[in-house]
Amino acid sequence: MLLGVNIDHVATLRNARGGVEPDTIKAAEICELNGATSITTHLREDRRHIKDSDVRMLIRTLKTNLNLEMAVTDEMQKIALEIVPHSVCLVPEKRQEITTEGGLDVAAQIVKITDFAKPLISAGILVSLFIDPVDEQIKASAQTGVQFVEIHTGQYSEKFGTSQEEAEFLKIKKAVTLAKSLGLKVNAGHGLNYQNVHRMHEIPGLYELNIGHSIISRAVFVGLPQAVKEMKDLVK
Ligand code: PXP
Repeated sequence: MLLGVNIDHVATLRNARGGVEPDTIKAAEICELNGATSITTHLREDRRHIKDSDVRMLIRTLKTNLNLEMAVTDEMQKIALEIVPHSVCLVPEKRQEITTEGGLDVAAQIVKITDFAKPLISAGILVSLFIDPVDEQIKASAQTGVQFVEIHTGQYSEKFGTSQEEAEFLKIKKAVTLAKSLGLKVNAGHGLNYQNVHRMHEIPGLYELNIGHSIISRAVFVGLPQAVKEMKDLVK
């Protein structure tokens, strides 16, 4: 499996003082040097962490792939078509949430998502939909013409180590199998950490894991190079 590192929280820390430290571009470079195969950033509508200037600089400096997480809005579509990242991951976005709470409701908006994705795909961008491990959402995603889905692992992560872990894990495993049978490539992420990530190896065919909070948190104690390296060792 490949490892995508989400560097949003480097920007969160930087923005706490409004200056330039820690440098998101340097952080991305360190992640790449220590095994990240892509760098993920979520350009939120309220720009609470990553800013437009970060994305524009990353697209120029990254040696690997930029995966741009974004909401399904005209503004974000315009930005993606301007900068042409390697991939975009479409996520639901609520202003008040602390982080992305649930998957995108693709089933309720198949036509909208299909139309939204079309110009992105035509521009050569890989499009992924961040969805819950639910059959209806996977089948709907396959109808939109996108190449990827990213399965939301938040519930599995939350229930890890409890009596509900197995049920949540099996939902993800089943979701990945279904998505692959429908011709989709499958990523996963949200809430994965150094303790719970190992079970993703029990799921054949997962392409990439996108992990942010646990890596940036661990970096506070051991440094970013080691934090990324340790996660890479667990993922590969
Ligand atoms: N994937 C998606 C679509 C996300 O929105 C996030 C959080 O920004 C992640 C992965 C990474 O989640 P975490 O920071 O919990 O590792």
